[in-house]
Amino acid sequence: MTTDKTKVQLLSVLLHLFRVAFFSLFFLWQGLSTAAPQSVEENACVTCHSDIWEREVQGSVHARANILCQDCHGGDPTQLDIEAAKAPATGFVGVPDKKKIAETCGSCHANVEVMNFYGIRTDQLARYKTSGHGKKLFEEGKDQVAVCSDCHGHHHILPISDPNSSVYPTNIPKTCNQCHGNEALMAGFGLPADIFSKYQRSVHGKAVLEKKDVSAANCTSCHGSHGAIPPGVRDIGAACGKCHVNEKKYFLESVHAPVAEGGNFSECIACHGNHEVHPASKLLYRTACIQCHAAGSPAAEVGENLFRVLAQSESELKAAEALVKGASIEGIFVEEEMGALEDAKTNVISMAPVQHSLSADRISGLYEKFSEVAREIKTRVHQKREFLKWRKIALIPIWIFVLLMASALWYKYKQLQSRRKGNPSSE
Ligand code: HEC
Ligand code: HEC
Ligand code: HEC
Ligand code: HEC
Ligand code: HEC
Ligand code: HEC
Ligand code: HEC
Ligand code: HEC
Ligand code: HEC
Repeated sequence: MTTDKTKVQLLSVLLHLFRVAFFSLFFLWQGLSTAAPQSVEENACVTCHSDIWEREVQGSVHARANILCQDCHGGDPTQLDIEAAKAPATGFVGVPDKKKIAETCGSCHANVEVMNFYGIRTDQLARYKTSGHGKKLFEEGKDQVAVCSDCHGHHHILPISDPNSSVYPTNIPKTCNQCHGNEALMAGFGLPADIFSKYQRSVHGKAVLEKKDVSAANCTSCHGSHGAIPPGVRDIGAACGKCHVNEKKYFLESVHAPVAEGGNFSECIACHGNHEVHPASKLLYRTACIQCHAAGSPAAEVGENLFRVLAQSESELKAAEALVKGASIEGIFVEEEMGALEDAKTNVISMAPVQHSLSADRISGLYEKFSEVAREIKTRVHQKREFLKWRKIALIPIWIFVLLMASALWYKYKQLQSRRKGNPSSE
């Protein structure tokens, strides 16, 4: 009996424990589920503004992370009643003005605790405030400048790596041009409105917009995105030199480097320009130098001299190419010469950045080597051609001999044939 009693007691204790555990887990789960983000279906803002949701917000990088209307606009998303949803106590801001937009986006994007999880940097707002745009907005209250949503959009924001994103490299120039191509707006700030059309014609613009080559420079490669400022005279080389490392390296050896260091020479754009950079050509030695150095001055002569070296080498190269091509048509075997020519050309192209040292010695040295190859090729092709000629000449006696033999044989054959006709019994 006593054992039965203890058994019952034990059972009820276990039952109690089980009940406690069950209910605590139940309440814990309930508590968690109310703390968890509310679903889209239950969100009253989405319910009432289903048009905006479907047209603009759904599918955005934020909607995918369950960041919904109230996270940017405030308000209470559990209230289906419009008054209650937007009561003052709910922090509803309606459509935020520009300064507020930067701060609203920044409330998450400058918050390391929020963004760490997503591995996204958190310096956009801080850098934005240092930019030409940010300074005008925060220090002078000019709200025509770009704020986060002007570059990223406000509802249909996509990951920056999405080719449809407004800040994907091939789309950036058009995004900036919304304002920088607006003549009335730009005139108010004393800025030109033709930057995009110049850029479009440039070697970079053609690469980015037509060839979809994202490695070429778009507006933000040179200006930065969040710190969009005009690169100062000193920073230009850094902007171009990020990509054109070798040109920068040799530029630093040139006579202009100390002048640039002193702030009196804009590293790359002095010769190439900024928005309308054209494919480089030796003609620049004729056109660029005389913008600052009087024609005929020693400095301009340095440019003129470089131009001559290049022009000379180029014509030698063309002549060598024509020679090799002609020879191969004539049937001369020029595989080796073609190879040598290609090698020389590749060498010269890879050494092109050396020109930025503007050192006549180095550049003539470089082209001297190349000329040597061209001259060598010329001699070798001539030799081969001579050899072929002599081979042809040497063939003449052989042909005469063959001809003589052939006619002798013919003569013999005819003789035999006429003998057979005269003596048919021999058959
Ligand atoms: C009962 C339906 C309803 C609910 C719920 C609702 N809205 Fe609205 N909302 C409206 C209507 C109607 C307007 C006014 C029409 C208009 O201006 O487009 C409006 C206007 C707005 C505007 C523009 C305000 C302005 O100043 O022009 C914003 C932003 C907005 N709602 C956000 C929200 C957010 C965020 C929520 C959730 C917290 C929400 N709405 C909940 C119906 C609703
Ligand atoms: C990531 C932040 C963000 C989210 C999420 C967001 N909005 Fe907006 N919304 C903005 C900003 C910023 C503007 C102001 C854009 C401007 O003025 O350039 C805006 C503008 C609006 C406007 C004014 C009309 C317009 O499109 O310019 C309405 C209405 C609106 N939002 C409703 C909503 C509703 C409804 C949702 C949810 C379905 C929502 N927003 C989600 C940031 C957000
Ligand atoms: C002048 C245009 C412009 C403005 C204004 C701007 N952005 Fe950007 N943003 C870009 C571009 C372009 C990128 C693409 C990557 C890059 O170049 O940094 C970018 C990238 C981002 C990214 C991806 C992470 C990163 O830093 O690369 C975030 C997040 C972002 N921006 C948020 C913001 C916020 C928040 C603001 C406002 C405080 C803002 N942006 C203002 C142009 C802009
Ligand atoms: C409530 C917090 C919050 C607010 C407010 C917010 N964002 Fe975001 N944003 C995020 C989170 C979280 C992500 C990352 C989502 C993911 O990667 O899944 C994100 C992603 C982005 C990205 C894509 C970054 C990338 O690396 O591709 C951009 C661009 C961006 N936000 C811009 C904005 C802009 C512009 C605003 C203001 C109009 C804004 N955000 C407001 C939280 C926020
Ligand atoms: C919403 C319109 C708008 C958009 C979009 C915009 N800008 Fe601007 N930007 C302006 C205005 C207005 C100014 C003039 C403010 C000033 O004088 O600094 C300006 C100034 C600048 C300046 C400084 C010029 C100077 O000499 O002070 C640079 C550089 C610049 N923007 C680059 C960009 C780039 C790059 C983009 C695209 C990634 C861009 N902007 C997108 C409106 C815009
Ligand atoms: C290859 C680099 C590069 C690219 C690409 C580029 N810029 Fe510039 N931009 C510069 C430089 C360098 C300056 C400064 C010129 C100076 O200081 O004399 C400048 C100046 C500016 C200015 C100041 C006004 C002016 O003309 O001096 C604005 C605004 C500007 N750029 C906007 C843009 C926009 C918008 C784009 C894209 C359509 C763009 N830039 C593309 C290098 C670039
Ligand atoms: C003093 C004038 C001058 C300056 C300064 C200058 N360049 Fe050049 N650059 C030239 C000339 C001339 C050529 C054409 C050479 C040719 O085609 O034979 C050239 C060619 C180039 C080329 C194409 C050929 C190559 O090197 O592959 C690039 C890229 C280039 N420059 C970038 C730059 C950058 C970046 C800077 C700044 C660090 C810069 N340049 C500074 C005059 C200049
Ligand atoms: C983001 C990287 C990047 C930046 C920044 C950049 N460039 Fe370029 N640049 C390129 C690429 C890539 C090409 C080749 C484009 C093509 O021809 O398809 C190029 C082409 C050129 C060429 C023509 C080269 C040739 O062979 O004829 C010149 C000249 C040039 N850049 C000068 C500059 C100058 C000057 C700056 C600064 C004001 C600059 N670049 C900034 C990437 C860049
Ligand atoms: C934007 C103006 C500018 C351009 C373009 C320019 N230079 Fe210069 N150059 C200077 C300045 C400034 C100095 C230093 C002051 C001086 O000595 O004249 C200088 C100095 C020199 C010097 C050494 C001093 C001298 O006068 O002999 C040489 C050599 C020279 N440049 C050659 C060139 C060549 C070659 C080109 C074209 C490929 C060129 N420069 C393009 C501005 C320029």
